[in-house]
Amino acid sequence: MTDELTPETPDEDEQPIKQRKNGLYPGVSDELAASMKTGWADTELRDLEPIEQAPNAARRREALSRRFPGERLVIPAGNLKTRSNDTEYDFRAATEYVHLTGDQTEDSVLVLEPRENGEGHDATLYRLPRSNRENGEFWLDGMGELWVGRRNSLAEAAALLGVDCADVRELAGMLREATGPVRVVRGHDAGIEAALADKVTAERDEELRVYLSEARLIKDEFEIGELQKAVDSTVRGFEDVVKVLDKAEATSERYIEGTFFLRARVEGNDVGYGSICAAGPHATTLHWVRNNGRVRSGDLLLLDAGVETNTLYTADVTRTLPINGTYTDLQRKIYDAVYEAQEAGIAAVKPGAAFRDFHDAAQRVLAEKLVEWGLVEGPVDRVLELGLQRRWTLHGTGHMLGLDVHDCAVARTETYVNGTLEAGMVLTVEPGLYFQADDLTVPEEYRGIGVRIEDDILVTEDGNRNLSAALPRRSDEVEAWMARLTAQRA
Ligand code: GLY
Ligand code: MN
Ligand code: MN
Repeated sequence: MTDELTPETPDEDEQPIKQRKNGLYPGVSDELAASMKTGWADTELRDLEPIEQAPNAARRREALSRRFPGERLVIPAGNLKTRSNDTEYDFRAATEYVHLTGDQTEDSVLVLEPRENGEGHDATLYRLPRSNRENGEFWLDGMGELWVGRRNSLAEAAALLGVDCADVRELAGMLREATGPVRVVRGHDAGIEAALADKVTAERDEELRVYLSEARLIKDEFEIGELQKAVDSTVRGFEDVVKVLDKAEATSERYIEGTFFLRARVEGNDVGYGSICAAGPHATTLHWVRNNGRVRSGDLLLLDAGVETNTLYTADVTRTLPINGTYTDLQRKIYDAVYEAQEAGIAAVKPGAAFRDFHDAAQRVLAEKLVEWGLVEGPVDRVLELGLQRRWTLHGTGHMLGLDVHDCAVARTETYVNGTLEAGMVLTVEPGLYFQADDLTVPEEYRGIGVRIEDDILVTEDGNRNLSAALPRRSDEVEAWMARLTAQRA
């Protein structure tokens, strides 16, 4: 935020940011400044109920408090990033902050302050208050509410989030003066980090980040409900895409990206990651997000996309579809192999299983197929031992899913990759086979074919539940589903 604004004295150096930035205001008369201060209704919202996830966030803050007794903990939401002049990139609050507050407001910072009696912490959410109308900030500052929309007052935010709120503009100074041990989640708020620069160490801050990543490994009922919503919207987004494949053929992969994005924006906040709309040989590029290629009948479309809900939980689903509605014999052979691998992977998802089990189960099936097709010399155990199948399987078979598409990514190896599955975890199972267009080690007809099938799986007390089961996976079911949807075209 800017310093005190002085609209009554529109001197060159003293003009507020908006004026300096784009010169839209030649000057402000005393009369106009006086007029803009008055005549506004009291819009304070009273009797607000806490948001649904407020008690869950409070429980997480309590657990965090127990893990770091006596230390000041600073968790920023992040700031806007300028795209050009006074235009900003879309803001997406830091996952750690969202998980601990349920809030998504830029420039906010959650601080857990150790109590003087040594028992626990007081949580305060530092954030921007309503814009000041007295000093002109409201309408003359580029981030004033007149420009960017109404914010919640500190009292409203406290009622909604169940946390005491204070003005974030006082925080940096306060942190600079503070004594005692402190940790900050890095990478989101350069101003806050600068204020703490001589008080923190990278190693101790990383411990905080790792703890918060691991704290997201098990999802609560609210989170599972949100992930199911994300998946349900994603299923509708995939249906939307199938219905417009003819239009995509007439244009490009961008039509698919745009179609899915419409569903994501109408039903949720955004896509949870850049949609991979990979037609033909682009399917062999794992993160194909340029989406500027041709969509051709007879080719496959690998669509890897997920809706992010308004609470910021994302789905991550992939289907590989025959663009004209029917797999060729070779496409089907490869697709069915990946399907079989995915079935083996999903069957290995249960509480008590090693996290690696589902990957190993899927990789074994894929290695068997590659040996059977004569693409690599067996026996299968030798292939797996040397990892030779990886030339065509390329990536791990899945990852945790939640607020981030690759959730819990900085959890320790022993708690995640070498850990054990527990009820409440949500992960993807997403084996694939990819034959690059220039891979001379496979017969020509394989080249340029890429298949991935990805579903979002909840570990339950007695096994698992496929949250994305509503989207057909078996090749004949995919074809029947596509036929049904394309018959509905106008
Ligand atoms: N969409 C990225 C992934 O599947 O991991
Ligand atoms: Mn994934
Ligand atoms: Mn994916």
